[in-house]
Amino acid sequence: MTVTKSQYSVAVLGAAGGIGQSLSLLLKMNPLISDLRLYDLANTPGVAADLSHTNTTCQVRGFMGADQLKDALKGADLVVIPAGVPRKPGMTRDDLFAINAGIVRDLCVACTEACPNALINIISNPVNSTVPIASEVFKKAGCYDPKKIFGVTTLDIVRSNTFVAEAKGLDINDVDVPVIGGHAGITILPLLSQTYPKCDFTAEEADKLTVRIQNAGTEVVEAKAGAGSATLSMAYAAARMAEACLRGLSGEPDVYECSYVASNITELPYFATKVRLGPSGADEVMPIGDITEYEADWLAKLKVELTGSIQKGVDFANQ
Ligand code: NAI
Repeated sequence: MTVTKSQYSVAVLGAAGGIGQSLSLLLKMNPLISDLRLYDLANTPGVAADLSHTNTTCQVRGFMGADQLKDALKGADLVVIPAGVPRKPGMTRDDLFAINAGIVRDLCVACTEACPNALINIISNPVNSTVPIASEVFKKAGCYDPKKIFGVTTLDIVRSNTFVAEAKGLDINDVDVPVIGGHAGITILPLLSQTYPKCDFTAEEADKLTVRIQNAGTEVVEAKAGAGSATLSMAYAAARMAEACLRGLSGEPDVYECSYVASNITELPYFATKVRLGPSGADEVMPIGDITEYEADWLAKLKVELTGSIQKGVDFANQ
């Protein structure tokens, strides 16, 4: 096992937002991180001052406004991006494209200049399009490494685990449901047939759970009634993904998470499956494995939608 480094620098872009603040707290608690940089357009000095009083050794600094973006990024090993607007009731993730596409593009341009070798975890929606945008930006800058750009889909796995544990009376700590495809509506495909520990689902149960997982984000958006989308569960999920990336970087073996990445697993250039995280990022993109006829039907449908979302991102970045 090659241990490259045990203490990492992490930058959060959009750190003063709903996800950003909770995520920053969780990252400040992570012993793998020694240096935490919080960047946003406003309010990061306050968030950083607040967090700096907690009793962990991790150093935390606030960076505010475009002038300080590069300083926030310089030397970062991992950049987590939850910057942008969240959904309100009645909106799809794609409705956020008009605002968030440009935000992700501009933040990634800065990453290519200040930390071209960092791993990038993209949370900003629509992830199905923002990951292709980020990738095009890195390609244009001549520093694209497909192993280093991740769409964060961990919340779909977290939700699936919760719903399956509830439905089957299992201990949540034991449950693992892989989720493949993308991160929006029907592009979210939980592979219930691959649930660990092995569970049997009736056709009706599988359908109910699948549709609930696909719409779980909307459940939260509606419950928040205009106050935004998932922030706390998202921060939890993003902290889990960030930790997996850092454990992989440190040389720890057998670190796996599902993520939406550049992929040869299907005919689509980006696709979420399990990924083995290692010293160079997504060291191995794992195959889909055996699936049921029901899951194969969804897979065929989701590919059509995902193809359009990918193309939209690529076109935007190259316009
Ligand atoms: P929020 O509105 O509470 O926070 C967003 C933050 O981004 C704000 O502090 C804002 O100032 C900042 N921001 C905007 N433009 C920026 C820029 N150019 N540079 C730096 N910071 C900038 O929103 P929330 O709830 O934190 O959601 C953030 C994003 O995460 C949304 O796009 C949302 O759709 C997405 N999301 C993704 C999920 C996933 O599973 N991948 C789940 C939930 C939300």
